[in-house]
Amino acid sequence: MALRFEVIGRFNRARAAQLTLPHFVCQTPLFMPVGTQGTIKGLTNNQLEDIGCQIILGNTYHLALRPGAELIDDLGGLHKFMNWKRALLTDSGGFQMVSLLHLADITEKGVTFQSPVDGKPMLLTPEESIQIQNKIGADIIMALDDVVKTTITGPRIEEAMYRTLRWIDRCIAAHKKPDVQNLFGIVQGGLDPVLRDICVRGLVERNLPGYAIGGLAGGEDKDSFWRVVAQCTAALPEDKPRYVMGVGYPLDIVVCSALGADMYDCVFPTRTARFGTALVPEGVLKLKHKAMASDERPIDPTCSCMVCKNYTRAYIHCLVTKDAMGSQLLSYHNLAYMMRLSKDLHMSIVEGRFPEFVRNFLQVQFPKGD
Ligand code: GUN
Ligand code: ZN
Repeated sequence: MALRFEVIGRFNRARAAQLTLPHFVCQTPLFMPVGTQGTIKGLTNNQLEDIGCQIILGNTYHLALRPGAELIDDLGGLHKFMNWKRALLTDSGGFQMVSLLHLADITEKGVTFQSPVDGKPMLLTPEESIQIQNKIGADIIMALDDVVKTTITGPRIEEAMYRTLRWIDRCIAAHKKPDVQNLFGIVQGGLDPVLRDICVRGLVERNLPGYAIGGLAGGEDKDSFWRVVAQCTAALPEDKPRYVMGVGYPLDIVVCSALGADMYDCVFPTRTARFGTALVPEGVLKLKHKAMASDERPIDPTCSCMVCKNYTRAYIHCLVTKDAMGSQLLSYHNLAYMMRLSKDLHMSIVEGRFPEFVRNFLQVQFPKGD
């Protein structure tokens, strides 16, 4: 096991912990920005460090296509290649192929798909996903899982859960660097509590360094989503990190942290920035709106990030969708917001004022109480 997970504060099921990874000591709850191609679009490593970013996520599928796992390996791994000194996590690739390529097909062997480069059929097996991730060299690597949308029903959900369990053994057997890279298993099972329970038990038996809850945030209602998270966190070990994949709305992060989850990732803060939307304590602020054209306030007067200290809403309104700087400034602020939220969650749990933090967060987001 190449990590240490020390819980340093609790409030009911919520926990604040110190997660020591090979490249960085992280504080949880924590949000991981998604840097699909080995970069967080438009931001430099220095900027990411300035806002307190501790770990970023890369995708095996994208990195394997370009620049390629061999090249990254030859150049000394992804940390060195992108000159990122802190922690990295790579997702296994199957989920990205299934969600991005409608041509992907899952069989017992692995995920088959048409190469977007030359259209040739390709196969990503659990073994290959791990081999590629071993070459990329992230602190945390993810098992290849069989992901189905939570909105479908029937035997496919059960098949995917059992296949995910069979694949975890192939991933464990293929993993050649357990002393420097942590392999996390992913709980699947859709919205079915019986299937989720079987999957959690199966993974916990394998004694992995950490566990993810997958297959969520795919269009199910919040109640079902939170129920699955609550069930899984209650059944996962206390002394291992718990990662809810693809989750990143501020409200969901607050709720999941209250339910005992520790890690999150989502494209939302950066994607929404590129569409001209800022995250603020009240919810979102649309910078494209014509009311912003002459607004001299910063995006968020309570935010102390570089963007809020230096630029007005009017200026960003003028840039947004017209110049790359508009989305860069918004991405910077949005990630700064997510980092502040993570830190506030951590500190409020450590300092025993988590309920007040949550109450205040909800009051500001939902002033009418709805
Ligand atoms: N990203 C968001 N959800 C998932 C999931 O269920 N599995 C994987 N591998 N990645 C994800
Ligand atoms: Zn700001």
